[in-house]
Amino acid sequence: MYPMTAAAQRDVYWLTRNPVGCARQALRSRRGPQGSRGPRAAPRPPGPRGRPFLGVVPELKSDPFGYLQQLGKTYGDVYRLPLPLYDVVVLNHPDHVRHVMSHRDGEYSLIGAAAGAARKVLGASMQMMEGREFRRRRKPLTPMMGRQQLSRVAATVADEFANRLTGWERFAQTGESIDLQHEINGVVIPAFMRAMFTMGLSDAELHRLDVDVRTLMQSASSPLLLGAPPRMLPGDGNPVQAWLRMRRWVKRRVEERLADSRSYDDLLQILLDARYEDGTPISRRDVITEAIMLIGGGYETVVAALAWTLALLPQNPQAQQRLYDEVDQLGGALPSYADLDRLEWAKACFDEGQRLQGLLLQPRFAMIDDVIGGYRIRRGTLVGLPIYALQRDPRWWGPDAETYEPIRFYDKDIVAARPNLVFLPFGAGPHRCFGAAMGYLEAQLFLAQLHQRFRIQIPVGWAPEHDPALPWPVKGGVPAVVTKVPVAAQRI
Ligand code: HEM
Repeated sequence: MYPMTAAAQRDVYWLTRNPVGCARQALRSRRGPQGSRGPRAAPRPPGPRGRPFLGVVPELKSDPFGYLQQLGKTYGDVYRLPLPLYDVVVLNHPDHVRHVMSHRDGEYSLIGAAAGAARKVLGASMQMMEGREFRRRRKPLTPMMGRQQLSRVAATVADEFANRLTGWERFAQTGESIDLQHEINGVVIPAFMRAMFTMGLSDAELHRLDVDVRTLMQSASSPLLLGAPPRMLPGDGNPVQAWLRMRRWVKRRVEERLADSRSYDDLLQILLDARYEDGTPISRRDVITEAIMLIGGGYETVVAALAWTLALLPQNPQAQQRLYDEVDQLGGALPSYADLDRLEWAKACFDEGQRLQGLLLQPRFAMIDDVIGGYRIRRGTLVGLPIYALQRDPRWWGPDAETYEPIRFYDKDIVAARPNLVFLPFGAGPHRCFGAAMGYLEAQLFLAQLHQRFRIQIPVGWAPEHDPALPWPVKGGVPAVVTKVPVAAQRI
């Protein structure tokens, strides 16, 4: 047997590491170089070599967040993360984030080349559109997040929170330890579903929906190979069945509404009444898909971020006390939309919870050949914005970046002193979260109502960790003991 040359060894290594990338490279070199200047002249980003077939999956699996922070320190603000079938190029600087997120015509796309197939199979929602078509879809839906609609949503949500939180008195009576994250879920889902569909859902319906949303979220996270792969056998955890079940359920709600002559002021009605500039409505199929996406994005995200906030808040007793003081200013009344401006500290506590929660990577597909930070970004590359690393980077957040300190979001001078795009819980650019205003509304109302009624104790020394799937909730839940606020202080 002849010994392999170093170049041949390198080729075999790359073939085992990244077969898709190798095939693409072979095609490109057959087409010949397209000139030496521009993207092709720039070097490819540095990064770890990774193992044959596996890339850096073992390292990512063992400590995904810490690993990306470490790679940022080793390789700088642009580096390559080798995964089995493709590489991700990670951009760890707000200027690079701006470069990617400020494109308006799909140059960096959320779904990339898979959008066409996804739309054929699922129907089209905002997430699957870019450029002019995306703007045409998003514009008629914006009244959902306008002041008028949000003040209605606030009334519905506050009312449902009040009902559900009354049920928490039993925890205060027994003093048992609960999973706070699970219980928050039980408060937020029914409130969100009422805001969306007006109707109340049975506990069984809420449970079914919740399991299906989780399944879909989990399968959306699977390209990073961190959690369990999607289950393909029939039963809970099968994403195809979950999608079809949710679709049937939402379709029934849409058909019932179309057959109903009464007027509604919920989110579904705005979706059905939405008209493009030429007066045409959104197709029935796409209305259903948009509604499913709203459900998918609309409550699990809020639950996870609230769980992180409440898990971290007790680490800063002064911040916690300031929240009680702010909530006391409401005089025990049920908070409304008009009160949100008086709940600025609650908002800062929530943002600080979201900062330390952080998601691993916000993806975008490069649909152009480009150069970022002096490195070549090939068309088709999956680019990842490391939100967690950006949101804990001492360059922007100071030496105490790991500490829970809501003043960072409350003090306007501190906010103005750091770059905008180092805090990205809602993403950025044209696809920035459609429901961010509603997310804040739910969070502020929940924190206010919870602290009007209860005190939350978290075991000393316990610290939250990430569940490795969207929307990155707290792994294993949040252990807590709930006690009632003394009667003199509670005026609700
Ligand atoms: C704390 C709460 C929330 C968080 C952390 C959150 C986070 C996000 C993120 C990270 C994105 C992707 C942005 C990007 O790719 O740049 C997104 C998109 C989206 N979110 Fe949210 N979200 C929240 C609440 C909501 C709510 C309440 C709704 C609906 C009522 C909602 C609906 C959507 C929709 C429809 C999109 C897709 C937008 C598009 O592709 O144009 N989200 N959200």
